Amino acid sequence: MYSKEFEESLKAVEAAREANIASEKVRMTADEKDALLAAYHPDYKKSEFSTLMFGPNKGEQVPHELCDMLSAKSRIKASDVDLGKIDYDVDVLIIGGGGAGSAAAIEAANTGAKVMIVTKLRIGDANTMMAEGGIQAADKPNDSPAIHFVDAYGGGHFAAKRDLLAKLVCDAPGAIKWLNDLGVEFDKAPDGTMITTHGGGTSRKRMHAAKDYSGAEIMRTLRDEVLNRGIPVVDFTSAIELILDENGRAAGAVLMNMETEELLVARAKTVIIATGGAGRMHYQGFPTSNHYGATADGLVLAYRVGAKLLYADTLQYHPTGAAYPQQIFGALVTEKVRSLGAKLVNRDGEVFMHPLETRDVAAAGIIRECSDRGKGVDTGSGKAVWLDTPMIEAIGGEGTIERRIPAMMRMFAAYGIDIRKEPILVYPTLHYQNGGIDINVDGQTPNVENLYVAGEAVGGIHGRNRLMGNSLLDIIVFGRSAGKNAGEHSKDVTVGRLTLDHIAAFDAAREAAGVVTDKVSPMLLPDYRHKR
Ligand code: FUM
Repeated sequence: MYSKEFEESLKAVEAAREANIASEKVRMTADEKDALLAAYHPDYKKSEFSTLMFGPNKGEQVPHELCDMLSAKSRIKASDVDLGKIDYDVDVLIIGGGGAGSAAAIEAANTGAKVMIVTKLRIGDANTMMAEGGIQAADKPNDSPAIHFVDAYGGGHFAAKRDLLAKLVCDAPGAIKWLNDLGVEFDKAPDGTMITTHGGGTSRKRMHAAKDYSGAEIMRTLRDEVLNRGIPVVDFTSAIELILDENGRAAGAVLMNMETEELLVARAKTVIIATGGAGRMHYQGFPTSNHYGATADGLVLAYRVGAKLLYADTLQYHPTGAAYPQQIFGALVTEKVRSLGAKLVNRDGEVFMHPLETRDVAAAGIIRECSDRGKGVDTGSGKAVWLDTPMIEAIGGEGTIERRIPAMMRMFAAYGIDIRKEPILVYPTLHYQNGGIDINVDGQTPNVENLYVAGEAVGGIHGRNRLMGNSLLDIIVFGRSAGKNAGEHSKDVTVGRLTLDHIAAFDAAREAAGVVTDKVSPMLLPDYRHKR
């Protein structure tokens, strides 16, 4: 049952629709964006950050919740584990069964290496599966990797590691071809050309998609490939501590069966962390679009053995999380909805910003509208703005929504909302970890030998803000390359005596820094039992 205010606002949006479709909101200047971000983006809220007191990033600021996990105790003591009893002995151990881990496994297996994936849930229970809008690649005649680079570099506030970003954009067309050849059902025109659209901050239409379940389609294909090739997948099993060898090189992981809590030892010549994101940390109390296991585990594992993090203070709040109804609070409303023509409209029916500003700017704009400007709609559990979805049908013709974003249509239809006829309410949701573990262009961590990272656990590819569709791209480009490099490199590695000495060293560093904690990490799964 909508409130009176709600009904009136809905009428204002409907009354203004035709004029709003016709009017073109100009994009903000760089100075306007900077001011907006500084005032409203959650990354700039100093009170929400703590300083790391020890470890490789000592002195740097990260969100409180991440600081707690990075400073926490191990789940084990070295004496809990018999490193002489090896349960799994492989060339390449991949931690994480999402898109990056699966792409890595396929390419590592192609090198002839003995590969194993370990995942705390099941293969495919990952943010890749939740990705909707698409994957970028400059493979059309009016586009080029150089233009893609410029878009992403600017969108990331010129902070991306340039060699990583250059690899991302240059390998993108090959990544699309690889996926297409594996069997991903991309949207295509009758003549077979890929249908591409814009995303926020793109100057060319280079978003390739499988309707609005692009990630699920990609993950389905990768999972089939991993399983068809017989690559071993140990599921419902977490990596809770990395193992080093006596020379300080990554050499495996301590695994924990999620049901029995039995500890197992995996020895490996190379290790790839592909553990994904951190939405379930609910930084600053935000809801999330992420899957249940997104708890920053890889960052914790890597940090404890001395790997450096990059930009761990920057998160992506997707501008359009579902704000109503409550049952889907925080679920992703794909940016593709705006690519297809829907605009952001406030309580009074006014379009308050260009719909395809970069994500950080769009999120900050919505937060400003709902806070200081007082132009948000009261949903009963907070403020939100409208995303005027009927504009899509008005612009693209009847049937566009069903054809291009059927999953969105179904998600809202389940609660009696027909997005072809009614606008929807949105507010930013915690979506992506811009920062992560520092890597070189081969995917290896510069300060821990034989340790590779791929996917959302990496920091530096996108700088301090990521453009839509560059994450599905990075899991493929850097997943494949980490797998190939780790597989090849494993041929030259002889593993020395295994140790868990870093646990005591980390404890000593904590004590020396005067940090007292009763927390243990990695978190593995969020605990909602005591939350209302
Ligand atoms: O809006 C979206 O569909 C999300 C895409 C992404 O994060 O790349």
